[in-house]
Amino acid sequence: MPDGGLTVFQTRITKMFGIKYPIIQGAMMWLSRAEMVAAVSNAGGLGIMASLTFPTAKELREEIRKTKSLTDKPFAVNITLLPTIRPRSLEEYIAAAIEEGVTIIETAGRNPRQYMKQLREGGVKIMHKVASVKAARTAEKVGVDAVTIVGFEEGGNPGMDDVTTLVLVPRTVDELSIPVIAGGGIGDGRGFMAALSLGAEGVLMGTRFMLSQECPLHPDIKQRLLEASEKDTLMIMRSIKNPERVVATAFAQRILEMEERGTTLEELLPLIDGLRQKRALDKGAADEAMIPCGQVVGLLSDLPTVKEIIDGIIKEASTIAKRQS
Ligand SMILES: Cc1cc2nc3c(=O)[nH]c(=O)nc-3n(C[C@H](O)[C@H](O)[C@H](O)COP(=O)(O)O)c2cc1C
Repeated sequence: MPDGGLTVFQTRITKMFGIKYPIIQGAMMWLSRAEMVAAVSNAGGLGIMASLTFPTAKELREEIRKTKSLTDKPFAVNITLLPTIRPRSLEEYIAAAIEEGVTIIETAGRNPRQYMKQLREGGVKIMHKVASVKAARTAEKVGVDAVTIVGFEEGGNPGMDDVTTLVLVPRTVDELSIPVIAGGGIGDGRGFMAALSLGAEGVLMGTRFMLSQECPLHPDIKQRLLEASEKDTLMIMRSIKNPERVVATAFAQRILEMEERGTTLEELLPLIDGLRQKRALDKGAADEAMIPCGQVVGLLSDLPTVKEIIDGIIKEASTIAKRQS
């Protein structure tokens, strides 16, 4: 089906979520709020709001309402199940999203089993993000509708196994019968086509959308990322079994050195605190907190709008598809 000369990339994911393109914006704490999420959904992709940005379920509810005022397209809410310094009731967050009419929930970080009943009863589609084939199999078993598998390259939490997207995606596709979304290291039409060739039915990108006009990231940090190469990220927090890929700043280097010296969780906590990260992001002070970022940053040298990113990927992918047919 041609669409203005472009290939229509319809998959089980576009059908399941009711979106035009199988392009999903990864949840980004502090950053994927209403404007960013709505921009992605309005451009034909799927925006995901990071619920942990909001200290209470009430504030999440308000942000969902704001998003709905900016788009009539579907968008998702991410519920990250990893332990946090300030524990909250995730059931309340899920209830708020469901009551506000959100139709897609992404879980991540831990087995979502204990939340499945609430999610199923809420009638939402459930996508779960994992970093290993084993966790993907478990997610399918507990009944999620789709799995996102992220590789070693990804910005954020790529897990402990150090296996790349190129290997994890086909391994996961071979093991699962539900649709698989590929994340980690994807930033343009070439990465998108590669992921589909590996059997993925959608892609998830965080770092690419960080470098967009709509992302509420401080211009100084955007500039720093624009200058970064594929070698300018580091994995920290492996010592506490929660590795995170971040921009290789002096701050990240300091954390790594502390870990090499055998630091304790107590010493690390004030440095990895989310509120410290928020202050640094607001100020544009990349050297004062960890800033998650994927290796794909080395491919990015422009600051387009979200729509330009998505249209550009589909255009480039269509050219590749034609060349191959
Ligand atoms: C700045 C930033 C913040 C992120 N915050 C979260 C988060 O709160 N929850 C989550 O599940 N993933 C989070 N991620 C991971 C992304 O959702 C996504 O999985 C990842 O960016 C994909 O890899 P890529 O960066 O190579 O595109 C974050 C990533 C970035 C870059």
